[in-house]
Amino acid sequence: MFRLSQFMREVLEPTPLTPARKPSGPVVIWNLIRRCNLTCKHCYTTSADIDFPGELATPEIYAVMDDLKAFKVPVLILSGGEPLLHPDIFAISRRARDMGFYVALSSNGTLIDQSNIARIAAIGYQYIGVSLDGMREAHDKFRRKQGSFDASLAGIRLCREYGIKAGIRFTLTQDNAHDFEALLQLMDDEDIDKFYLSHLNYGGRGNKNRKDDAEFRLTRQVMEVLFEKSLSWEAQGLHREVVTGNNDADAVYFLHWVKRRFPARTEHIQAKLQQWGGNASGVNVANIDNLGNVHPDTFWWHYGLGNVRKRLFSEIWPDVSDPLMAGLKASPRPLQGRCGSCHYQTICNGNTRVRAQQLTGDFWAEDPGCYLSDAEIAGPSNQLARTVING
Ligand SMILES: C[S@@+](CC[C@H](N)C(=O)[O-])C[C@H]1O[C@@H](n2cnc3c(N)ncnc32)[C@H](O)[C@@H]1O
Ligand code: SF4
Repeated sequence: MFRLSQFMREVLEPTPLTPARKPSGPVVIWNLIRRCNLTCKHCYTTSADIDFPGELATPEIYAVMDDLKAFKVPVLILSGGEPLLHPDIFAISRRARDMGFYVALSSNGTLIDQSNIARIAAIGYQYIGVSLDGMREAHDKFRRKQGSFDASLAGIRLCREYGIKAGIRFTLTQDNAHDFEALLQLMDDEDIDKFYLSHLNYGGRGNKNRKDDAEFRLTRQVMEVLFEKSLSWEAQGLHREVVTGNNDADAVYFLHWVKRRFPARTEHIQAKLQQWGGNASGVNVANIDNLGNVHPDTFWWHYGLGNVRKRLFSEIWPDVSDPLMAGLKASPRPLQGRCGSCHYQTICNGNTRVRAQQLTGDFWAEDPGCYLSDAEIAGPSNQLARTVING
């Protein structure tokens, strides 16, 4: 996850480069339930409005939660399916809050209404992210339910009304890129706290429909607009959080943007980006699915590391006898192709390994989602050589 607005603040008001604080444990994204009232085109969990047998029961969830706490996991992101369809979502959330986790809810927002908003507010979620994959027409088509945009937006408005920090999560594809700027406008119109741009990842229906992934030219245009918008929000003191996910090349592209727009800040931003270190799957980000299987991140549902019913999460997570985990935790990672020779590996850390694996069968092949040009991944001396060769 690339926290763009944090780095944008560093462009405008640089802070000293102090030693990085190591997180106490990974952020755990937990798909508590796979059932969902929507069937989105890109959904990595391939959810639907049906019962999925074998899911962790609430007492099992509590036992895992105790282990996560002992393992010093700082953050739980409760997700699904649609987490609000879990019959015990409020009890689970309450317990997590009482145990001192930072607790976020990842919801499609359609089920947040007058009947439950007071209970939701009482939980004290630190953040609720609601997916909006376009404006009304594109969103309803993408999420395959008429009226879902209006219901989700009403959910966001209710969260705002009740003082809950809420944000938009937008997954960029060819189908909805045309609405990207309108969504940024919606951020302003509704005074929304956070915008998360998620690049398409190749899991579940997102893998089946990967032909819909945004073309590189489009992604680059979108990123330019996002950089300028984040700059303008920061310059106005609005401090809307802007974050991107599933494409750590965003950080390298941002560095090139800084070189163009604020050349004097290049070195500082480069050092800060290196300190951040890029893709954190298998290291600082973990996933537990509805059946209790542990994965290096949410998009590895086709690759399990172990099940919490059989082995504690705290034992599964550090185990590097698994070749994928060994490589993800290695520094540098055993990257191949363009990723292997990229000058900016220390910033991006090899981007999204799932896309490489889904396309080639090889965990360590280059990420086909990297939209940077050859010149942009070459070191400064090679960039110069290329410029000379290209005249
Ligand atoms: C699986 S959903 C679960 C929470 C809730 N049902 C929702 O839609 O927000 C979590 C987030 O992952 C995003 N997502 C799903 N499939 C994806 C994919 N293949 N690539 C990138 N993001 C994806 C969704 O848009 C949503 O923002
Ligand atoms: S992305 Fe979320 S809302 Fe859409 S089908 Fe998947 S779980 Fe449901």
